[in-house]
Amino acid sequence: MTGVIITGGASGIGRACALALAESGRPVAVWDRDESGALGVAKEAAMLTPLPTLGLGVDVTDSSSFARAIDATRETLGEIGGLVHAAGIADAATVADITEEHWDAVLNVNLRAQAMLTKALLPDLRAAPGAAIVGISSIEGIVGAAWIAAYCSSKAGLLGLTRSMAHELASDGIRVNAVCPGFIDTPLLARAGEEMVAAFAAKSVFGRLGRPEEVAGAVRFLLSDEASFITGTQLVVDGGTTSTDR
Ligand code: NAI
Repeated sequence: MTGVIITGGASGIGRACALALAESGRPVAVWDRDESGALGVAKEAAMLTPLPTLGLGVDVTDSSSFARAIDATRETLGEIGGLVHAAGIADAATVADITEEHWDAVLNVNLRAQAMLTKALLPDLRAAPGAAIVGISSIEGIVGAAWIAAYCSSKAGLLGLTRSMAHELASDGIRVNAVCPGFIDTPLLARAGEEMVAAFAAKSVFGRLGRPEEVAGAVRFLLSDEASFITGTQLVVDGGTTSTDR
């Protein structure tokens, strides 16, 4: 099976995706701006598979670094046939306080990076059989939330990007989908503080947070040939959070 690049793979959902994909027989490259975290997860993945794994320090907002990182990935993994864009930031700002710097920082990591990285990876993805891309959006890309307008915009934008790319890249044999997690137990969510996290957990019909592994299962499915007729869509993994009006 072809290799997969997981951005933001050093932590949370990206880490769980890297481990789940390694376990299912995909060579994985963990890209993260946290280089030692990426190397650590690549090591964890190597315990699960005899196939190659790689950890790389990459800032996904710096597209000038992509060519070198892609070359290094191809050298270690062989053919690259998958991309999971899980790198993300969720900095908060009220609309009254929002700055251009804040807006650009959030949009650049969460949205622009997936477009630029896909562009850089096109020759590899076009050559790989059954190539697929999964972007980690959010339920906040479907509904809105106060204090995170830039985040919600980036995640809604990712859904638009998914649909457009799916249309455009179908003739290249590349599928493009998004996963929209609800509230998942990761360091990113923990930064909201205990009280908020408890409130988030209560929003699921199960009354708990999701586990990163529960998102990774959906990502692994969408990357696999089992999803060969699925493109341009979003899979909500939110424990029923957006299914009720309570
Ligand atoms: P996390 O904070 O545990 O992991 C995010 C990773 O992205 C970190 O390892 C971080 O170093 C990396 N990263 C950030 N900026 C980067 C950059 N410029 N270049 C390379 N790597 C960078 O967060 P979590 O929760 O695992 O989030 C993963 C994705 O899932 C994000 O896109 C987030 O918005 C999304 N998500 C998370 C939810 C949650 O409840 N935890 C809910 C819905 C979506």
